[in-house]
Amino acid sequence: MARTLIRGGLVVTAAEEAYADVLVDGTQVVALAAPDVAEAWLPGADLVIDATDRYVIPGGVDAHTHMQMPFGGTVASDTFETGTRAAAFGGTTTIVDFAIQSVGSTLRAGLDAWHAKAEGVCAIDYAFHMILADVNDTTLNEMDLLVDEGVTSFKMFMAYPGVLYSDDGQILRAMQQAAHNGALPMMHAENGIAIDVLIAQALAAGRTDPRVHGEVRKALLEAEATHRAIALARVAGSPLYVVHVSAAEAVEELTRARDLGLNVFGETCPQYLFLSTEDLARPDFEGAKYVCSTPLRPAEHQSALWRGLRSNDLSVVSTDHCPFCFVGQKDLGRGDFSKIPNGLPGVENRMDLLHQAVLDGHISRRRWIELACATPARMFGLYPRKGTVAPGGDADLVVYDPAAEYTVSAATHHMNVDYSAYEGRRLTGRAETVLSRGTVVVDRGRYTGHAGHGAFLPRATCQYLT
Ligand code: URP
Ligand code: ZN
Ligand code: ZN
Repeated sequence: MARTLIRGGLVVTAAEEAYADVLVDGTQVVALAAPDVAEAWLPGADLVIDATDRYVIPGGVDAHTHMQMPFGGTVASDTFETGTRAAAFGGTTTIVDFAIQSVGSTLRAGLDAWHAKAEGVCAIDYAFHMILADVNDTTLNEMDLLVDEGVTSFKMFMAYPGVLYSDDGQILRAMQQAAHNGALPMMHAENGIAIDVLIAQALAAGRTDPRVHGEVRKALLEAEATHRAIALARVAGSPLYVVHVSAAEAVEELTRARDLGLNVFGETCPQYLFLSTEDLARPDFEGAKYVCSTPLRPAEHQSALWRGLRSNDLSVVSTDHCPFCFVGQKDLGRGDFSKIPNGLPGVENRMDLLHQAVLDGHISRRRWIELACATPARMFGLYPRKGTVAPGGDADLVVYDPAAEYTVSAATHHMNVDYSAYEGRRLTGRAETVLSRGTVVVDRGRYTGHAGHGAFLPRATCQYLT
């Protein structure tokens, strides 16, 4: 088993920062040591990585991705192979992707289909949530079996009637099951029934541009659904994790619930922190690149999101990576915004955008690691194997150059999509060398990993509830 010594870096975790050498034996971190102690390891080391002037941070945990997800008559353009490789380049070493139940079918069939897509091709480790698209007696029983297999979180949709939508009764029943089996219900909180009325009215009035997507998916309808989801979770006695929160009014609902001491958690995504309805309104159909749900909001919402991230009313930043090419996919919605496939690319950009947020004074360096690594690992039952730098944990490590400057561009990114949502943005800070379970998968910007290195991670239940 290879022994690796990472020397001279500032080790940053959610809990502390200290100069230490990191000793890796095989797949795990075995010690954090002062340089004179680590000296004794030098002769036995197979690889020594110089981390002078660098941070040594845990590999990012992106708890919300959709590799090759079918949506709106097309399929998200990153496969598990291309998407996990791009994640590695961006300093993320674990993804939790969403397996989907088909309506009329079982959770088993959906999960097996996602295992088949991911097995043997991933560059980094991966786990699954399960999307409940058809809650019925069989589904509810199957939830228990999936929890035993390490799929311990279940997403439901209050949006997309006729596709992925669950009604309040179905949601309540699934939450009751989760209260019983320890799973974490996740919610796409938007009032999809009301939104569909507004979509039909907008199209009938000839309002077909991408920016109308943001206008009909109103902040109030996100807040209303968030409120309702919290109420249903209270009645069921289950915890709740609200995904891709974008509206200030929805953050208010989370704050109120958390002030009552409820096990309610919120996630937001870089697109809501760094982009806005101004991007959705770009001319010549360019706004389609920014169509996702929940939608981008006016920039005024961003201060509430940053405040929520600081106060822990929002506890996780994931990407909701769901890329569709501008040419051939996003343009399915020319002349009808409701046909634009929903989703943005970002799995490669998250760690750097959040590091930029540290430099810009929005969050602290440790909070960066907490939001992007430690809390998602804890929330989804992977800690301390993932999400920190500690003896006994997986050697998923990033040697991060906090001074590297670069310009984000589709011309240089590794995601399989023909545009970048952050094209032209100058960022400071970049993953330099990335280890996944002790194997160097990115070496100073060069890919050294291989498809199939990444393994499926069965997860424990949410560690905030034990
Ligand atoms: O627009 C989005 N978010 N696409 C992915 C599916 C979802 O709702 O998370
Ligand atoms: Zn969603
Ligand atoms: Zn999503």
